[in-house]
Amino acid sequence: MVAADLPEVMRIQLKAFSNPWSEDMVKKELTQDWSTVLLIEEQMAGRSALLGFIIFWLVHDELHILNVAVTPEHRRRGIGRYAMNAALAFGQSHQCRIATLEVRRGNAPAIALYEALGFRTVGLRPQYYADNKEDAAVMVLDFHGQASK
Ligand SMILES: CC(C)(COP(=O)(O)OP(=O)(O)OC[C@H]1O[C@@H](n2cnc3c(N)ncnc32)[C@H](O)[C@@H]1OP(=O)(O)O)[C@@H](O)C(=O)NCCC(=O)NCCS
Repeated sequence: MVAADLPEVMRIQLKAFSNPWSEDMVKKELTQDWSTVLLIEEQMAGRSALLGFIIFWLVHDELHILNVAVTPEHRRRGIGRYAMNAALAFGQSHQCRIATLEVRRGNAPAIALYEALGFRTVGLRPQYYADNKEDAAVMVLDFHGQASK
């Protein structure tokens, strides 16, 4: 992602989340060495259209996934899985030991995606999300095959 992509990324943020990241939050990710924002695009009618994005951090031997979203009209086409696999491949190529993320406990589509990729829930953060006090599930994938505690 580059700064010029911000309006399109925000368009998906606003459609995908009840409590979306602000422009400033997304912009900040572009300035941090440890952060990567990958865009998933498709050529449509001769133009490139943004279908989704993923934001992740590389912190020592950990890949931390902060935000992944697919525009509603293109869901269940494997785009979320593709974005996650791209992030995981980045983690593996940077010798990460684990990948971690937090997800709203009630976000069944995202949890199904993460479980399909081998993540498992290792803990809960009660009332983690300020907007509705929803719990977060903490999920971990161990790159060496066995999920960490
Ligand atoms: C979560 C999200 C990124 C999934 O994107 P997607 O492109 O629709 O997902 P995929 O098509 O790659 O699905 C991969 C697998 O995830 C699971 N899955 C995805 N959406 C699902 C749903 N609505 N119900 C059940 N399982 C689902 C399935 O196992 C699916 O495999 P299948 O289609 O072969 O059954 C998308 O629903 C989204 O943008 N949600 C809003 C934002 C969000 O909540 N992000 C996660 C928190 S940061």
